[in-house]
Amino acid sequence: MYESPHPVTLVEQQSFDSGVPNIARIYDALLGGKDNYAVDREAAIALTAAIPGAARAARDNRAFLARAVRYLAGRAGITQFLDIGTGLPTRGHVHEIACTASPSARVAYIDNDPVVVAHANAVLAGTPAVIIAEADVRFPLDLMTRPAVRAHLDFEQPVAVLLVAVLHFVADSDGPRSIVRCITDHLAPGSYLVISHGTGDQTPPEAIRQARDIYDIAYVRGAARTRHDIEGLFDGLDLIPPGVVDAARWRSRRGASRPVLLYAGIGRKPGRPTALRPVP
Ligand SMILES: C[S@@+](CC[C@H](N)C(=O)[O-])C[C@H]1O[C@@H](n2cnc3c(N)ncnc32)[C@H](O)[C@@H]1O
Repeated sequence: MYESPHPVTLVEQQSFDSGVPNIARIYDALLGGKDNYAVDREAAIALTAAIPGAARAARDNRAFLARAVRYLAGRAGITQFLDIGTGLPTRGHVHEIACTASPSARVAYIDNDPVVVAHANAVLAGTPAVIIAEADVRFPLDLMTRPAVRAHLDFEQPVAVLLVAVLHFVADSDGPRSIVRCITDHLAPGSYLVISHGTGDQTPPEAIRQARDIYDIAYVRGAARTRHDIEGLFDGLDLIPPGVVDAARWRSRRGASRPVLLYAGIGRKPGRPTALRPVP
């Protein structure tokens, strides 16, 4: 078990309660999905009142995720994906994009929300390319050594780890940098790390405080971080151009979002991947 030097500060919300908003369902409501309850829609409306670009940022984030997976499965030749904080399954999920580019692609989906895991299991049952496991990114050693995950992905070979719109739900006291470091330490050279992360760089502090209050109701403590902090999460990796930028602009000709609410980037673990063992 990963001995975090930092106490876990999230209040656990592991049991299902349709009267309490939850991260995955608020995000689904922001995206205009149907897998949410009135409390989640109310939270999404309050979030949008505090931060008017919130729904646009959620859509930009999904579009970034799709471009990142296409880049990795296409140009980078990655066939293994570990998607941590995967969210409720929705159209254009990681395995659909990855398997289109590379039919041999395999994906391990991770979330700490049992409802997300149950829903994903129901929707993805019978998809051999995919497994889903309930685990918490704040315990990266536990996550990276799970037998089910290691049986599905070969960590001797490059893996792309996706931490897309999840690390801003990890408090500073939980040590996001050491969490990311623990994950990348378990990856082979030639592996990739994808991050998108909420920022308050161009948003008034009062609006960020209101957003935090809304997530407090969902028992979540996290942090909007600066571009500098987010770049620091890629320490030890080579950043793929254009580096850490507005998620809407990462390898996209779209106009800049104002204000920037999410930064995104991809890093590569330096070194040559080990040659694949010949199939006996
Ligand atoms: C905003 S959604 C992002 C979903 C997807 N990655 C995307 O970008 O479209 C964040 C997801 O992270 C999950 N999550 C939050 N904290 C987590 C943690 N500590 N460990 C694992 N998953 C977590 C939530 O349950 C939710 O499903």
